[in-house]
Amino acid sequence: MENSVPATALPALGLGTYKLTGPEGQAAIERALALGYRHLDTAQAYGNEAVVGAALRAAGVPREAVQVTTKLTADAFGPADRVRASLEGSLERLGLDRVDLVLIHWPNPWRTAQEGTFRQTAAALAGMVGDDGPAASWGVSNFLSEHLETLAADGLQAAVNQIQVDALVQQRSVQEATRAHGAAVVAHTPLGRGGKPFEVPAVTAAAAAHGATPAQVLLAWHRQSGRVAIPRSSSAAHLAENLASLELELTADELAAVDAADSGRPARQDPLEFGI
Ligand SMILES: NC(=O)c1ccc[n+]([C@@H]2O[C@H](COP(=O)([O-])OP(=O)(O)OC[C@H]3O[C@@H](n4cnc5c(N)ncnc54)[C@H](OP(=O)(O)O)[C@@H]3O)[C@@H](O)[C@H]2O)c1
Repeated sequence: MENSVPATALPALGLGTYKLTGPEGQAAIERALALGYRHLDTAQAYGNEAVVGAALRAAGVPREAVQVTTKLTADAFGPADRVRASLEGSLERLGLDRVDLVLIHWPNPWRTAQEGTFRQTAAALAGMVGDDGPAASWGVSNFLSEHLETLAADGLQAAVNQIQVDALVQQRSVQEATRAHGAAVVAHTPLGRGGKPFEVPAVTAAAAAHGATPAQVLLAWHRQSGRVAIPRSSSAAHLAENLASLELELTADELAAVDAADSGRPARQDPLEFGI
């Protein structure tokens, strides 16, 4: 079943909101919107949907100018009435009529049909998204190739697969499978939480060559590689710095050098064992 809104409608750079809670979190999200961010990534599991909604209203940016993504926990899994009730809970907390994109946060592939599976949930979402639905579009997160194949066998196509990608953990085979299944790759934890990826020689060399920061190089690499990235920051300076990465153009050699830094390691959490 086709998704009605192409994932390419997402801006290349969004704001991750994990841990952005309370008044400080709201202030950071408002600042991001004032700076020009137009894509907010939240989740039921972050406990901050109300904060995201409050920031969106307080920032005074027209609702239709901002793409809002939320993610369903496994408590939502099951038949359409359960999925819809859970999604409506998110809308109530956000104070919105609809979200632009709803994701299945983790596949939780061990769940039985009685408990509710990602297959049932994806089928339910495919039946309720669209112009008049509670979400414009649906997708998945942390799905491996086998989970995407299961969906394809059911005739279901996610608009995006949001997965961990940074310079050291690139998950290339998952990226390829995602694209092969017609979904866009959204990079979560795109800065590797501000740690080791900043020290990768290909990243620091490109940063020096362009008078840019390692964070900007990583974000330009995501964008020029066709991935949407959703870095999180609570710092005004970092929010502005990350947005300015949209102006940075790396050379083909620089992109290839960052590609070559991949450790081949899998994501921090294994979707076959971890779930929310
Ligand atoms: N689907 C999933 O399962 C999943 C999992 C993880 C994350 N996500 C999503 O992806 C988003 C991003 O991931 P994340 O928040 O875990 O990590 P991240 O965006 O990779 O890194 C955030 C960290 O980097 C720092 N930072 C940001 N910009 C910086 C800059 N320009 N220079 C130096 N440090 C900088 C931030 O500190 P400051 O606040 O000080 O700037 C923060 O400590 C999340 O917020 C969430 O929306 C989804």
